[in-house]
Amino acid sequence: MSNKMHITLTVNGEEHEFLAEPRELLIYTLRERLNITGPHIGCETSHCGACTVTLNGKSVKACTMFIAQANGAQVTTIEGIGSPDNLHVLQKSFREHHGLQCGYCTPGMITRASKLLEENPNPTEEEVRFGMAGNMCRCTGYQNIVKSILAAAGELNAAKEAAE
Ligand code: FES
Ligand code: FES
Repeated sequence: MSNKMHITLTVNGEEHEFLAEPRELLIYTLRERLNITGPHIGCETSHCGACTVTLNGKSVKACTMFIAQANGAQVTTIEGIGSPDNLHVLQKSFREHHGLQCGYCTPGMITRASKLLEENPNPTEEEVRFGMAGNMCRCTGYQNIVKSILAAAGELNAAKEAAE
């Protein structure tokens, strides 16, 4: 007898329905089943943050979440944050301030940073470092990542003020 369960998952606003074993990992569902390859696989043990997505409004590591736990959830990946033709302010800021080198950590970094700025639109440098502590980068030494996030926060706040 199959132990597959019926799963509903909304990713970047698009609803998907499929049968899956409850133990299937969310990162596998995204990358292999749905071909959403922005979230990367690094450590597979919840340490590096390469697989970070937003699930029901919270940052989660998709490499250690079972699809059974994500059933019915709303998920946002880097593909739902910006696109090559329409970059998010954070993506532009990472490009301008050299917040990436190889880029492997970047989708997770930006997905986490967008959540961080939603929760705290005006963070201090210390709050950015603390808020990003679950995301690792082998290349940049973090200085420019922090600079990129702070600059994006400034830009988003200026745009908000101008719109008021
Ligand atoms: S691959 Fe998920 S935290 Fe590293
Ligand atoms: S830019 Fe290479 S791991 Fe972060």
